[in-house]
Amino acid sequence: MRKAPYHYEALETWLLEQIRAGRWRPGDRLPSIRALCAQQGRSKVTVLHALHRLEARGVVEAYPKAGYFVTTTPDDAPPRPQAAGQISAPLPVTVSDLFLDIMRRSAAFDLLPDAPSGEPPPGIVALNRAIGRALRRQRDGQFQYYDEPMGHLSLREQLASQAARRGWRVSPDRLCITSGCQHALFLALMATCRAGDVVAVESPGFYGVLQLLEQLDLRVVEVPTSPETGMDMAALAEVLERWPVRACVVSPAFATPGGALMPDAARRQLLDLAGRHDLAVIEDDIYAETGFAQVPDPLKALDRDDRVILCGSFSKSLSRDLRLGWISGARWHRQILHLKLVTQLASSRYLQQGVAEFMEDGGYAAHLRRQRGLLRERRDRLLSMLRDWRVPVRMTQPQGGLAVWLELPEGVDTLTAYSKALQEGIVLTPGSLFSAVGAFSNGLRISFAHAWDEERRTALGRLPALLELV
Ligand SMILES: Cc1ncc(COP(=O)(O)O)c(C=O)c1O
Repeated sequence: MRKAPYHYEALETWLLEQIRAGRWRPGDRLPSIRALCAQQGRSKVTVLHALHRLEARGVVEAYPKAGYFVTTTPDDAPPRPQAAGQISAPLPVTVSDLFLDIMRRSAAFDLLPDAPSGEPPPGIVALNRAIGRALRRQRDGQFQYYDEPMGHLSLREQLASQAARRGWRVSPDRLCITSGCQHALFLALMATCRAGDVVAVESPGFYGVLQLLEQLDLRVVEVPTSPETGMDMAALAEVLERWPVRACVVSPAFATPGGALMPDAARRQLLDLAGRHDLAVIEDDIYAETGFAQVPDPLKALDRDDRVILCGSFSKSLSRDLRLGWISGARWHRQILHLKLVTQLASSRYLQQGVAEFMEDGGYAAHLRRQRGLLRERRDRLLSMLRDWRVPVRMTQPQGGLAVWLELPEGVDTLTAYSKALQEGIVLTPGSLFSAVGAFSNGLRISFAHAWDEERRTALGRLPALLELV
């Protein structure tokens, strides 16, 4: 005869039954340890023991300071966000220190960040001159005053005329200058969501958004995303049926990591879904101007419902060091202006004036023309070097952006390779950086932002060994 179960076993069974019966669904938080002790009349040790066993079975997951969350209904297959129909329920985000380490190394847009990167291109020389001129022209007392919080009119006017060339008519009053695109995304999420809300993101998708969600206590639902055509609209539709999503962050033009370009039909479907489910669409437009053959119109150009917030920046097309971006906040614009004021007060006046003049003089257009040609050459060079590896690797062929996404054979762990490569001064961008649920461990993003000089070619040549592909 089987002896009576221990208290922790009985509690574990009870919790499993409740989860199976749907009392708590994937993504839900279990009652606190203290509440379970009180409700079940058990000690803290017993409750913790039961929770640890459920955690070991993969049914719940512990989040520091947040509690235990259901990850899957018992007997479910483990979540695989790559395929529609197997989407993980919304979860809080916890970004590990390792991710921060990788991000501190410029998120590896360069395999060899310590190697010399050559002379600045003529466009940057011209930009620096324009900024210098603007700085010298500042009136004596101006250092004692902030610029207007919305941003300098001359820059907003330039950005508005650039938008018009991409099929989007926007008044300069509907643009607000930010400290880069990350800041713009932060303002967009702050304006549209409250703690605990669910945000749909691309998977794989930009790790910076995951970090913002973590900071704002938002829950993420990862929507399967093709590295070629972007977020899967059928999967998004399913997600919206199942969970109350507040906002969706998408990058229709050359999304990181693979450079996906969202087709027109998908863009229209997205807006249709957003209307039906009343969600905010946060468009990350940062890579659009890198398009080798064409600069796609923004999703915002199709927005008849004033629910697409556009976020952009000069970081990928001109300079990361400017820390200048912009946002057009749709129906949330007033609140976003307020949040800009609260979080940054104002942006540097002379930097904005210098960039505006650089744009007005045609310097930016000339820089982009040159840069697009260079990026295309560097992409081609990278693809041809990758093909020479002669290992079964799937790779994207982006028409814009700064990186190629590789899917390596199952079992290759690019996070392990990251630590090994670091010892040789090589910085990888492992696939798991692009998901909050531990997917894409065999993915790798390789940037072609830099010229393939001998040192970088040699570093790339080391990868098959570091990844244990040969
Ligand atoms: C998709 C995407 N969005 C936003 C950012 C942040 O841009 P910024 O430097 O303008 O803050 C990055 C930077 O890597 C990015 O890749």
